[in-house]
Formats: sequence, structure tokens, C-alpha cells
Amino acid sequence: MRGALAAGAAFGGLTILGASARGQGKLLKAGLVGCGGRGRGAAVNFLEAGKFLNTEVKIAALAEIDKAAIEQTRKRLTEDGSDVPESACFVGFDGYKKVIDSGVDVVLLATPPVFRPLHFDACVKAAKHVFMEKPVCVDPVGGQRLIAAGEEATKKNLCVVAGTQRRHDTGYLATKKLLDDGAIGAIWGGAVYWCGASSWIKPRQPGWTDIEYIMKNWINFVEMSGDHVIEQHVHNIDVMVWFMGEVPTLAVAVGGRARRKTGNQYDFFSVDYQFAKKNNVHIHSLSRQVNGTWSRETEELIGDKGRILAKSVFLHPRKRVDLPKIEGHDNAYVQEHVALINAIVKGKPLNEAQQVAESTLVGIMGRISAYTGQPVRFTDVSKPDGTFGKLAFSPTAEDFEKGQIKLPTEEIPTPGVPEEPKAE
Ligand SMILES: NC(=O)c1ccc[n+]([C@@H]2O[C@H](COP(=O)([O-])OP(=O)(O)OC[C@H]3O[C@@H](n4cnc5c(N)ncnc54)[C@H](O)[C@@H]3O)[C@@H](O)[C@H]2O)c1
Repeated sequence: MRGALAAGAAFGGLTILGASARGQGKLLKAGLVGCGGRGRGAAVNFLEAGKFLNTEVKIAALAEIDKAAIEQTRKRLTEDGSDVPESACFVGFDGYKKVIDSGVDVVLLATPPVFRPLHFDACVKAAKHVFMEKPVCVDPVGGQRLIAAGEEATKKNLCVVAGTQRRHDTGYLATKKLLDDGAIGAIWGGAVYWCGASSWIKPRQPGWTDIEYIMKNWINFVEMSGDHVIEQHVHNIDVMVWFMGEVPTLAVAVGGRARRKTGNQYDFFSVDYQFAKKNNVHIHSLSRQVNGTWSRETEELIGDKGRILAKSVFLHPRKRVDLPKIEGHDNAYVQEHVALINAIVKGKPLNEAQQVAESTLVGIMGRISAYTGQPVRFTDVSKPDGTFGKLAFSPTAEDFEKGQIKLPTEEIPTPGVPEEPKAE
């Protein structure tokens, strides 16, 4: 109990020590939309955060398109002391509306990213607090929609937390504090990485509809996931944006496909991000999903006095600096919900919609640059009148709800124009 009383929630790099939320409000009820691996995890993390803060919380409603995933989630939640009655379980692409209307205070959004702007918009319209998984859009139109809904959320005093994790990780928060205190001096360059194994595929079975096929394989289609440069690598891109204190102005990228045989995504991206307002610093982003290749998942920044490597800080040439103590849950997945619940019960402003949408759009800049072979400015994707500002993929989230989709092609984009070297 004492630990819970002392536990603070981290808000934007500061620690706010707070008393237990018990007695400060009623039972906080959450609904989960998307009961897959991460959705189940987020629901359990929400319950764990309630225990940590000694605040009464429960998962009260579920939405899914797959009945089996609902049953698996109900079973898991019962083990964690939160029974969801069958009458509060909604199957179908419109299930999010029923969860929103079921009387919950908070909605946890954990479907594939293509649905996030629509679902988030609906939550804000209904004045619900939100936890939403990253990434939060797949195209520039979705990113702009999410930012606009985030602004509405601020006007309604709603609390919004994103699942980018590191901004709620006490080690990263301590590192950011040292960075802000000048520990490594001015930043002169850096690199962010997510290089690792390829993800899963589910080969098409006889009798599957197009919707079944693409839903089971969402992670292989850019229209659903945004490609791995955002679906996975957005975590590291988000640290880059957070630590630099602003979005990059320009992305110049290459990428390609060497191994994948299904879907329409690339295997690798190499993106040069330029921060024109910060001494024209360049940060390299490298992401790859190919089995049997070198793995690295981290963020590195080099300053004139030292270096940051994820949540470690060194002075040149290699003297480690002790991190300051930041209070909070030692599991960042739980701390995200600690921050959310604390903000809700105390009525503190906390809205991460814009920051997560911007980090996702930064990933999208890199992807578009690799796909097209052209430099892409942040304003090209963040503004409706930018060069790619009106880019919206099909099928849209609304198409799924109407039950009408046209399966995207499984061809990959190829930059440039066809040209043979000139014979001499
Ligand atoms: N923060 C992290 O570390 C982390 C880790 C894994 C995944 N994620 C993110 O979480 C999200 C979900 O990933 P996952 O690994 O759980 O995927 P998953 O495929 O395991 O689960 C997604 C679930 O959503 C359901 N679904 C799809 N569309 C829906 C809709 N419109 N309405 C209701 N349910 C719907 C699917 O049937 C599936 O059960 C993705 O955005 C992913 O990038 C984040």
C-alpha cells in the first residue's frame, strides 16, 4: 500500500508523486476493442495498473471480429479477476460502437492500425478516455484525422495515452532528463534501429473471403499495418522525435524487398532524417525484417560531450553516467496505464494523441520516400495541401464496416522510371 501511495506517474518527463486514487472517484470501467495478443496484454496491464494505484478498475466490454479471440480474452480476464458477461461482448466491425455505448469510461484500442483514426474519432465524439496502441494511422489522411480528434479530446478534457512504451519507461525518462540537463551537450547525429526477423504469414485457405484473408494477414499489407517501418520501428522513431524535441523536416530513403513472397511490404528501409531547425542534424533510421540477418533494436544519439544508447548515457569516450531515479511501475506497459488512470482520477491533462500521430507520420515520410524515391518533408504528409497530404489507402476502415473491400494488389512499389543503362 505504501508503495502504491508513493508511486508516481510520469508525465512528459516529470514525475508527479501522487496519493492513491482510492476514494477520488468511482469504479473506472474500460472496454477493449481488438482482443488479439496486444489487446489482451493491454487489458491485463490496465487491471495491473489499477492494483498498483489501489484504484478500482475493471474491463467491462469487449469488441472483436473473431468470436474465438473474445472467448480467449474473457478466459484470461477471468483469471485476472475481471469477468466480462457475454452480453457485453460484441462481434463485428461495428463492435467498437457498441463498446463505446456500453457505459465504459475508457476505451482501449488495439486493432490493426488502419482502424485507429476511425475508432479514436468515435471515442472522442462520445467523450471517452482512450488508451491506443501504436501506430495510430497508415496514411497521411489518417494521421491528420487523428491529430484533429486529439485536439477535440483536449477541448473535452479527455485523457489519451499511446502505447509507444518508452515515453513511460522510467529508464528512458531518466535518460531524457539527463539529456535535457545537458549531459551529452548539443546533439550532432544519431541512428535508430529495428532490425530483426520477419513476421508471420497465414497462407490463404480455400473458402476464405478476401476480408478473412487480409484480416488474418494484416501485418503483411501496407494498407493495414503501414509497413514495418511504422508498425514496428515507430517505437524507435518516437524516441528520436521525443529526444530531438521536434519532428524532422525532411526524409530521404531507400528500401526494398529481397525475401518476402506475400503481401505488399518491403523487407528493409534506410531513412536519412534531417532536422533543419536543429543544426541540420541527420539521424539514420534502419529497419529490416529478414530472417538470419543481423539484429539490432535501439536508439543512439551522439552529442559534443557524450552519447546516449537507449537508456544508457556515457560521457566521451566511455564514462557511464548514473541515471536519476524516476518513480513509477517498473514495467512500461503497466506504467502507461498508471499514467492514464492517475490522469483520469485526478483530472490532470494528459493527451498523447498529437505526439504519437506525429511519430507515425514521421515513419510514413520515410516509407513514402523509399517507395517513391523522392525526398519527403514533414509538411508533405502533415498538411492536407502537402504533396502527399491527401494520400489515403483503400480499403478504409469504413469499407470493412460496410463489408465491401477490394483486396489490394500484392505488388510492391518501385521508385523511379524504367530505364536500361545506355549501351556505349
Ligand atoms: N506496444 C507494443 O509493444 C505492441 C506490441 C504488439 C502489437 N502492438 C500493436 O497493437 C496492435 C494489435 O496488434 P496485435 O499484435 O495484438 O495483433 P493481433 O492480430 O494479435 O490482434 C488484433 C486483433 O484485432 C482484431 N480486429 C481486427 N480488426 C478489428 C476491428 N475492426 N474491430 C475489432 N477487432 C478487430 C483481430 O481479429 C485480432 O484479434 C497493432 O497496432 C500493433 O502494432 C503493439
